[in-house]
Amino acid sequence: RLVSLIGAPTDVGAGARGSSMGPEALRVAGIDTVLRAHDIDVIDRGNLAGPANPWQAPVDGYRHLSEVAQWNRLVHDAVHAELVLQRLPILLGGDHSLGIGTISAVARHCRETGRKLRVLWLDAHADFNTNGHTPSGNLHGMPVSCLCGYGPQELIEIGGKVPAISPRWIREIGIRSVDPGEKRLVQEAGLEIYDMRYIDEMGMRHAMELALATIDANTHLHVSFDVDFLDCEVAPGVGTTVRGGPTYREAQLCMEMIADTGALASLDVMELNPALDVRNRTAEVAVDLVESLFGKSTLMRK
Ligand code: ARG
Ligand code: MN
Ligand code: MN
Ligand code: MN
Repeated sequence: RLVSLIGAPTDVGAGARGSSMGPEALRVAGIDTVLRAHDIDVIDRGNLAGPANPWQAPVDGYRHLSEVAQWNRLVHDAVHAELVLQRLPILLGGDHSLGIGTISAVARHCRETGRKLRVLWLDAHADFNTNGHTPSGNLHGMPVSCLCGYGPQELIEIGGKVPAISPRWIREIGIRSVDPGEKRLVQEAGLEIYDMRYIDEMGMRHAMELALATIDANTHLHVSFDVDFLDCEVAPGVGTTVRGGPTYREAQLCMEMIADTGALASLDVMELNPALDVRNRTAEVAVDLVESLFGKSTLMRK
């Protein structure tokens, strides 16, 4: 398999500084070496260069809209270029607003190649806010709504089609923080959400069986992994921790079940904030989980 790493060192979409250091922390934790050990051809494309964080207050409910749009256009182009080369892009974030760039590129490529798209959004948050509902103005709380066509023109049109994707293609897992107005939007859009209550009652295995149920041989599976998906005891190095997330074991099972589909075709690793981490522990956990996503297993699998 062919994999390309793309670093997007920015925190313009977040409310805390520091996810701009995420790509380097993932490299220090050995993400390339770990993948190469699984017989994967890895090219590290280095980092994209976009605008600095001006650290300004929101305007019309959006903080740093033009910077976020610029970063997302760069990410869109870089991700699409890898897909054309038939390589699997891994975006090293960066804050989660960049999911607009990756997923709009993936959706465009699926249109061009006639493939079916499924998006797994692993997160504590639904990231389905709009400027009218956001409590913060931070665009990392809005990528899913932008992809579904609810958002500012410069963000919804990045992949060349509005909306970039249908809410029916998305499965959100691990959700435990949804803002009041966001709740109604998520329901109206009909997002398929496996929240922590569901995972507590039914188990990660059952949640993932359902979340992966409509994947077939022609499916491009994109995984958008916000590291705050994980319980904050396991993953302290994120800006927006919410307690009560999946344990290390549950997260491993989630990744292994995704690997078993054989459909993984693009990946985001987002929101890692080394400024808040403890001796790079969160980066190491993220790399461990990425290894499972690419087929690490204890014994031979049948
Ligand atoms: N819902 C909150 C907001 O809109 C938090 C979003 C956090 N998103 C993230 N990608 N970490 O500000
Ligand atoms: Mn294409
Ligand atoms: Mn989150
Ligand atoms: Mn997120």
